[in-house]
Amino acid sequence: MTSQDQQNPNPIASAELDYFQTNPAPKSLKQHLTLARAFIQQHAEEGRKVVLVTSGGTTVPLENQTVRYIDNFSAGTRGATSAEYFLEEGYAVIFLHRQFSLLPFSRHYSHNTRSFLDFMREDEDGRIVVDQEHQSDMIDVYRKYMAAKKDNLLLILSFVTITEYLWELREVAQLMQPLGPRAMFYLAAAVSDFFVPHDRMVEHKIQSSEEFSQQASTEGDEKRPAARTEGKSLIIDLEPVPKFLKALVDGWAPDAMIVSFKLETDPSILVKKAKYALDKYAHHLVIGNLLTTRKWEVVFVSAEEGTKWIRVPRGRRAKSLSGVESLVGQASGQIDEDSPSAHKFVGEPLVEIESLIIPEIAAMHERLLTAGSK
Ligand code: PMT
Repeated sequence: MTSQDQQNPNPIASAELDYFQTNPAPKSLKQHLTLARAFIQQHAEEGRKVVLVTSGGTTVPLENQTVRYIDNFSAGTRGATSAEYFLEEGYAVIFLHRQFSLLPFSRHYSHNTRSFLDFMREDEDGRIVVDQEHQSDMIDVYRKYMAAKKDNLLLILSFVTITEYLWELREVAQLMQPLGPRAMFYLAAAVSDFFVPHDRMVEHKIQSSEEFSQQASTEGDEKRPAARTEGKSLIIDLEPVPKFLKALVDGWAPDAMIVSFKLETDPSILVKKAKYALDKYAHHLVIGNLLTTRKWEVVFVSAEEGTKWIRVPRGRRAKSLSGVESLVGQASGQIDEDSPSAHKFVGEPLVEIESLIIPEIAAMHERLLTAGSK
């Protein structure tokens, strides 16, 4: 035990306290919590399960008046798609996402190489209508979106930076505590591991030209800026973000079902790292995925079922003469291989893998609820 641990026997609690004391809350937090409180209360009263889906990448600003920042990879596809399937499973969804990343429902028509205007045409009366080819897809998405809106089943909140994300996660998690085991956390956001602490962040844009750059001062109480120019070089010296998964599991949401993701690029360490995370944080499920194959296969690692791969069926889309699309390929979404696929995936997957992931998780949640009520 270090002398620091002796002063505070719980290093996680101490890191949490320090982080939230020194990195200020986002301005929008109060307003977001008002919305979340009302949403959670409504669904608690109606006996609905509530899932908090996190989605998109968190940024690490280098300057307080931010011009430059480091970003984490994520388009928000996993989160936005999963949110739709959670709604299909009867959950109310709090969608905590990176501002301007993909949103449930509108994702079908945004962030594309095609503009949403390409789905439209002008009719004989000079009005804009959806063109014939996209009518049936769009009516389907539209009806699901309207149904979610009508029953207030989807609350959309946003963050940009890692600090905003962590504040929102902690505060909303604490509001969800009265839901007990009917709450779920589905942590699909890509969370920064390193950041610039508030007290080491410069106020203004870092100057690139030597004539204008301020010399990094280390005099007095002032801390050395984490991002600064030295000569012609930009030096970035980041600090680790404490692992908040532990705080979430043990303190912020002790009764909820917690699903975390593990993103890797090296296939040989994915399962090992997912198992390590499950052991370390002792939550319910780690979903491992590789950057390049994440739309085709994921691995579930849980104490309940060990290691299980979920894969989209291989095959192809076929169009009949009448234009109706069907899937030609394996019926099942699972294949009994116990390591990442060796073959390359090309094109778009046959089905959205989230349509296989979410029913599995919902069934697992039901089993936990049933076991807990005995
Ligand atoms: O949006 P897409 O383009 O579809 O991509 C989806 C995805 C690949 C981003 C997603 O499926 C995914 O894997 N998300 C998790 C990415 C991530 O943060 O992985 P990680 O291995 O760095 O972190 C593992 C876990 O630790 C995460 O659950 C994270 O919430 C948690 N963490 C991370 C950092 C930190 N300081 N504290 C944490 O608790």
